[in-house]
Amino acid sequence: MSFVDQQPSTSRFLDDVLTGLGSVPKALSPKYFYDARGSALFEAICELPEYYPTRTELGLMRDHAADMAVQLGENSVLIEFGSGAGVNTGVLLQALLPVAYVPVEISVAALQESTARLAADFPQLPILAVCADYMQPLAIPQLDRIKASCRVIYFPGSTIGNLTPEEAQVFLGRARGLAGDKGMMLIGVDLKKDPAVLHAAYNDAQGVTAEFNLNLLRRINRELAADFDLDQFRHAAFYNAVAGRIEMHIESISAQTVTVSGRTFAFGAGERMHTENSCKYSVEEFRRLAQAAGFRPTQVWTDPAQLFSVHLLHT
Ligand code: AVI
Repeated sequence: MSFVDQQPSTSRFLDDVLTGLGSVPKALSPKYFYDARGSALFEAICELPEYYPTRTELGLMRDHAADMAVQLGENSVLIEFGSGAGVNTGVLLQALLPVAYVPVEISVAALQESTARLAADFPQLPILAVCADYMQPLAIPQLDRIKASCRVIYFPGSTIGNLTPEEAQVFLGRARGLAGDKGMMLIGVDLKKDPAVLHAAYNDAQGVTAEFNLNLLRRINRELAADFDLDQFRHAAFYNAVAGRIEMHIESISAQTVTVSGRTFAFGAGERMHTENSCKYSVEEFRRLAQAAGFRPTQVWTDPAQLFSVHLLHT
């Protein structure tokens, strides 16, 4: 296994937080959810009874991986954005048997854990682990040395939904460039559905999603010398039907001030920081978005309850 380190610096985290807290309305980027505790909380979310996306997507992969592998062809290199917990990946690798696997992940802890697991399960598979923010333009020169019939980008989990449609179009356009001629993308996308189902998935009874959201403040306290009082903030998540997305916010319970690395920010009672969008798409909406980014969408797999979709896109 080889390792490429393009980890974003802590000063970038500080700049982003100071800019976000200085904006109106206040906002923080969801990419900072995933420190070691945040990654563990996200894994716990994926197991929750209310959080249907993970198990539904895994069911789709188990049911259709053989068909997907036929469409993706032999001797490809599989590039995964957000190596994650890797269960879907194991199912796809088993069916596809690519010449190499290239996980790209911002969290070094998540990258090391998932690649160690996959390396044990697939001892013959060459792995090039890249620690980088795949939401930014990527340059991975080591990729050019991998001889493969084509590049397949795998982006499961509906993480595309954490971008606005405008951001997603730019991101997909860059992914298309990385996949190159005769490349493909296999992407998991959460579908539009009954808002009550969506609401429950982001407001679970055990409060794990609330912990995950508020953990961002813990991380800022620890890494950026801040003094957020976690008892004075609460989780807020709701479906915005006009925008077709779940919005997560952190709401200030009282009027208060917070200091981050020597800068002070005032919060009104009830004031919110926007921490995440989770956009939901119909099959047709997502195909149009992929087309606008220059892809040719072909097949799409959905579950019988129409909760989740996996799209195959060609460059
Ligand atoms: C990673 N991402 C696709 C998750 C989602 O559903 O948008 C993150 C998450 N946020 C709250 N629960 C899960």
